[in-house]
Amino acid sequence: MTFQKTTKRTQLVRGKEISFFFLTSIAIIGAGIGGTSAAYYLRQKFGKDVKIDLFERGEVGGRLATMTVQGQEYETGGSVIHPLNLHMKRFVKDLGLSVVQGSGGLMGVYNGESLVFEESSWFIINIIKLIWQYGFQSLRMHMWVEDILDKFMRIYRYQSHDYAFSTVENLLHSLGGDDFLGMLNRTLLETLQKAGFSEKFLDEIVAPVMRVNYGQSTNINGFVGAVSLAGADSGLWAVKGGNKLVCSGLLQASRSNLISGSVMYIEEKTRTKQTGTPAKMYEVAYQTGSETHSDFYDIIVVATPLNRKMSNITFLNFDPPIEEFHQYYQYIVTTLIKGNLNSTIFSSRALGKFDLSTILTTDNSDLFINSIGIVSSVRENNPQPSEDGAYVWKIFSQETLTKEQILKLFLSYDYAVKQQWLAYPHYKPPEKCPSIILHDRLYYLSGIECAASAMEMSAIAAHNAALLAYHRWNGHTDMIDQEDLYEKLKTEL
Ligand SMILES: Cc1cc2nc3c(=O)[nH]c(=O)nc-3n(C[C@H](O)[C@H](O)[C@H](O)COP(=O)(O)OP(=O)(O)OC[C@H]3O[C@@H](n4cnc5c(N)ncnc54)[C@H](O)[C@@H]3O)c2cc1C
Ligand SMILES: *[C@@H]1O[C@H](CO)[C@@H](O)[C@H](O)[C@H]1NC(C)=O
Ligand SMILES: *[C@@H]1O[C@H](CO)[C@@H](O)[C@H](O)[C@H]1NC(C)=O
Ligand SMILES: *[C@@H]1O[C@H](CO)[C@@H](O)[C@H](O)[C@H]1NC(C)=O
Repeated sequence: MTFQKTTKRTQLVRGKEISFFFLTSIAIIGAGIGGTSAAYYLRQKFGKDVKIDLFERGEVGGRLATMTVQGQEYETGGSVIHPLNLHMKRFVKDLGLSVVQGSGGLMGVYNGESLVFEESSWFIINIIKLIWQYGFQSLRMHMWVEDILDKFMRIYRYQSHDYAFSTVENLLHSLGGDDFLGMLNRTLLETLQKAGFSEKFLDEIVAPVMRVNYGQSTNINGFVGAVSLAGADSGLWAVKGGNKLVCSGLLQASRSNLISGSVMYIEEKTRTKQTGTPAKMYEVAYQTGSETHSDFYDIIVVATPLNRKMSNITFLNFDPPIEEFHQYYQYIVTTLIKGNLNSTIFSSRALGKFDLSTILTTDNSDLFINSIGIVSSVRENNPQPSEDGAYVWKIFSQETLTKEQILKLFLSYDYAVKQQWLAYPHYKPPEKCPSIILHDRLYYLSGIECAASAMEMSAIAAHNAALLAYHRWNGHTDMIDQEDLYEKLKTEL
């Protein structure tokens, strides 16, 4: 009999210490950016001989998804990436993918009656307008976000030195102490009011940014608020051909096996290994078509929100039971419409000279959209109108748009297609983050979304879960939850 000898374990068997070898096997549930980057990092840490199976019940990419209409492909889920999202940047480079830059058209803010803010194509005029309307608030806002981003970037240093954290709270605390972690305990509104920002600025600039990025108000936690404001920075990019290409690329690069199936339950069982020694393993039962199968694994990484509506995974017979997380996810509809906008609804003097390509909205319950903006296909840098001047617009809304609503916005349209999402957590500080370690060798990656949901956050959580699983497997406790890492690594180059 041959089997790969990959892991040496020493165990007491009937009073004798014996060493034995076995093939380590890892299951990852969910092939979104979280699961596929976990596969990538786990392969890096555990080496080429471990078996990695990746379960996916839908499409590889998960919430990174595109829709093809009239031969053109558009992002309908996670679409833009920040220039300082270093893991995403690294993946694109390692996988040999190309990027497209955000087109940087002009933005306006609509309050249900008129445009309360309108960008100009003259950079200097925008600055003057911002100062005229809001004093130096936008500059201060920029500095506030910058400071958080600076601290946030420390994670890359910790991870490049292989340090891992056993809870989301410990991870955030390591970045900037109690103040940083404390952002999860307060709303963005409270935080910015305390910092002296005006109601007008909060209503007309900050709230619209929260609506477009998270479909929620300024009552979200301060950290996700900062992530969302950073999403208004310049230099945003996307992956040419679709962001989900990163997921399929990572899957391939990690040389893991994709299993198309829906995981139903996970149970810990005692198994006899190839060596004849009993060992604890997890049984994963999954469904493909109408058939049910099961397999055994040493380590499991759950990379999908543990929420009945989103993943429906049952943990059988764990003692103590694995707690269920009742994080409520925000329902959002993405609609792509190709047509001619009736711009007079936003601005009466607009006809003929309306040059905005994105319209955000204030937190007004009478509005039936969160935002509307021109998009380009996943292969273009700049949106191209069709011959009759029609662009493809992307609308985010809380409900499916009715035909009447679409006709209110458009003079005429070619098509309207939609995709519904349970998009990201509905934030309600104080946030209590789920555990990362659900059981001995069972890890949960998506809990990081309690702090903020974004592609980069899932990639960071994936790197952390891979390091954590590796260090715990090998007993490297000194690499987990180290305090004062920032100070420690400062002196080390
Ligand atoms: C409309 C929208 C806009 C967004 N915009 C941005 C943006 O501009 N920038 C940004 O950074 N982020 C954005 N996000 C957030 C970003 O898309 C997500 O944070 C990220 O994609 C989450 O990745 P994930 O791998 O953690 O989870 P997911 O992508 O949800 O992956 C989980 C996977 O698990 C699978 N699965 C679930 N249950 C099971 C099961 N029982 N068995 C097998 N497989 C299972 C699912 O099918 C899914 O593929 C946006 C999200 C949405 C919805
Ligand atoms: C956040 O609030 C919780 C109670 O909801 C408290 O236990 C915790 O200490 C607070 N954390 C910080 C960093 O303020
Ligand atoms: C969850 O899965 C169980 C079977 O494992 C099924 O009976 C139930 O209907 C599912 N629930 C949802 C919300 O999909
Ligand atoms: C465009 O919208 C305005 C304002 O709602 C409306 O008065 C006008 O009739 C619309 N134009 C057309 C051609 O439908």
